[in-house]
Amino acid sequence: MRDAKKLFIRTYGCQMNVYDSERMAEALAESGYVTTDSPEDADLILLNTCHIREKAAEKIYSELGRYKGLKAARPDLRIGVAGCVAQAEGEEIMRRQPMVDLVVGPQSYHRLPELTARAESGGKAIDTDFPEEDKFEKLAGPRRARRGPTAFLTVQEGCDKFCAFCVVPYTRGMEVSRPPAQVMAEARELVERGVREITLLGQNVNAYHGAGEDGDWPLARLIGELAKIDGLERIRFTTSHPNDMDDGLIAAFAECEKLMPYLHLPVQSGSDRILKAMNRRHTAADYVALIGRIRAARPDILLSGDFIVGFPGETEEDFARTMALVEEVNYGQAYSFKYSPRPGTPAAERDQVEEAVKSERLARLQELLDAQQQAAQKAMVGREVSVLFEKPGRMAGQMVGKSQYLHAVHVTDPSVRAGEIRAVRITASAPNSLAGEVI
Ligand code: 5AD
Ligand code: SF4
Repeated sequence: MRDAKKLFIRTYGCQMNVYDSERMAEALAESGYVTTDSPEDADLILLNTCHIREKAAEKIYSELGRYKGLKAARPDLRIGVAGCVAQAEGEEIMRRQPMVDLVVGPQSYHRLPELTARAESGGKAIDTDFPEEDKFEKLAGPRRARRGPTAFLTVQEGCDKFCAFCVVPYTRGMEVSRPPAQVMAEARELVERGVREITLLGQNVNAYHGAGEDGDWPLARLIGELAKIDGLERIRFTTSHPNDMDDGLIAAFAECEKLMPYLHLPVQSGSDRILKAMNRRHTAADYVALIGRIRAARPDILLSGDFIVGFPGETEEDFARTMALVEEVNYGQAYSFKYSPRPGTPAAERDQVEEAVKSERLARLQELLDAQQQAAQKAMVGREVSVLFEKPGRMAGQMVGKSQYLHAVHVTDPSVRAGEIRAVRITASAPNSLAGEVI
């Protein structure tokens, strides 16, 4: 009997890509593929790509270059590009890298088995449609690729907000929410497979509005119903837009014990002029007021954000307002980026800020954000947290997991098993993790 065909997937970008890679592996399992951790063994290599910044997209071409030798040695090897670069640059990828056999955009993953079959028989397969049919319905096979106690679950995809810097509306399409029954069924299946924490995903997850049989389900309702699932202990969601943080969702942080006290709420800039130019549709004061309401509901919540420096037109004064907002909010964790012009987005056409200025501002912002993160972590020392343990750590006898605040926590304790939630006293803070002792 011929050995099973082997699939190697490399995932770039956001958590939704991690989820999508799992679903693609499940879809291809139906066509006889098992996953492998090494490209050398693979019959099919899939790169699941990200287009959010230029650097992210350029990585794909250098990664493809690395597979040239493999492809020359084994002409049967098939190479595919999935994800947001595939969606944005499908035809061009095939032109620039003729060794690519298959290109598939995020809305066509359910068609992967037939596209792969075409590639296997020597043809080129490209699908960057935005099909009418329900991708998730068709992808709803068993979640067999699932390992470990935490899982992502996409509930909403796409975006209609058109921030002037962002490719997402073009690569992921318009906002779509999955029906609540579909989400609930997938969550139950995950919990049956040992999952204890689910992170609900969407490019605009708090804009979720699922069409339930009894009417519209906003995200707060979905979280409330998920919380009733026995065995599901923790719920998180990401990523959110400030304008969609409704009262019900804020109240959920106060009322729903299973909703973890962590919120990623990007603001991008602290300057009203820049926020307007970005088409964010709120002011810095609106955001700060919103944070105040969220903190009133859940005083210990750990806040995270995203920032862009050097957006077209950003002056030193605008940047100073971003720094002031960061000072005022005080983040536990955050991501910050230099503005990267993306083809086809409005801001790419505007006058650009010099690269050296962007770099210098980014360094100043990151210094402040890092100081806030370190202060938040040091403040945990001596405190008791609850940790969901996920896997062994790098040192012998070590286990790592996440606290309710999403801090990585490690302990050295032979009694701890993956999948357990234990009370831990934090004893030390390292740059990107905490150490503790099981109580
Ligand atoms: N340049 C730089 N950063 C960007 N982001 C999105 N588009 C761009 C861009 N063109 C950042 C935003 C967003 C995060 C996912 O990536 O901060 O919230
Ligand atoms: Fe990257 Fe955005 Fe696509 Fe995620 S949705 S892979 S962040 S471009």
